[in-house]
Amino acid sequence: MSIKNNRNQALVDKLIQLKEQRNAVILAHNYQLGEVQDIADFVGDSLGLSQKAAETETEVIVFCGVHFMAETASILCPDKIVLLPEVNAGCPMANMVTVEKLKEKKQKYGHPYVVCYVNSTAEVKAESDVCCTSANAVKIVKGLDQTRKVLFIPDQYLGHYVSGQAGKEIILWPGYCPTHLRILPQDILRLRKEHPQAKVIVHPECRPEVISLADEVQSTEGMCRYAKTTENNEIIVGTELGIIHRLRKENPGKRFLSASEQAICPNMKLITLEKVVWSLKEMQHQIKVPARIANRARKAVDRMLELR
Ligand code: 13P
Ligand code: SF4
Repeated sequence: MSIKNNRNQALVDKLIQLKEQRNAVILAHNYQLGEVQDIADFVGDSLGLSQKAAETETEVIVFCGVHFMAETASILCPDKIVLLPEVNAGCPMANMVTVEKLKEKKQKYGHPYVVCYVNSTAEVKAESDVCCTSANAVKIVKGLDQTRKVLFIPDQYLGHYVSGQAGKEIILWPGYCPTHLRILPQDILRLRKEHPQAKVIVHPECRPEVISLADEVQSTEGMCRYAKTTENNEIIVGTELGIIHRLRKENPGKRFLSASEQAICPNMKLITLEKVVWSLKEMQHQIKVPARIANRARKAVDRMLELR
């Protein structure tokens, strides 16, 4: 056994012991490092992870993802301890909208219905009417009273995609995901040329010019489902690189090509196996949304879970 494998095995043994001792579950997003995905009890997209958090019976949730995801778990499970193994793991897109700016925009547009992507802070969720994830955004907007004006925050690209799919004009917020913006139309065109049999799946956070070149537009969990069921053996994947680990693990006979080697979310990569062990040992960093914010934000998240 190599030194790295020995080290990892020792950490995994420690983790199993701590998990039992603390009565904890480990949830990991599809973009996490392979070593973190491999020790998680559940790996999924934002929707799946919030559903898992809502139904878990353990006292502690270790959230291997970014800050807003741990906050969502805290909103849904106010009595549980939610741990984020790296407190600096944030989502830049979530910080592109503030409560003050949102209030100004609501005023400007005569108080539209606010659909808030879960990639947002708890305070912003508390100012919104309903949340959505990339997996259910179209369904949620289609299900709204179509006579009402809709403001979609913070991702302009997801909002633009939803507007097209739902056939509804939507007021967009100028937020974006820096990682998905690195995927360019020329990346897809080049890979299609090199692999003419391959199917192209992309995340709806991509630019419209990339989305229009894709065969499928899916949340990360939708991509994993598609990869399992498609007869195609070669798939070009337009999202953060971490998902390739799970796709290859679940589909050993298929070939996955990343649309861009630049599509790395540095925040998702801050959590390591070592930090997960440390987190459970020290019971750090605890993410707790204050009740006055959590109670309002929960309404928007619950509405999403009811409508999904
Ligand atoms: P998913 O909900 O599709 O996993 O997306 C989360 C995210 O942060 C995408 O950048
Ligand atoms: Fe945020 Fe983009 Fe990273 Fe997702 S990939 S967490 S949207 S920065």
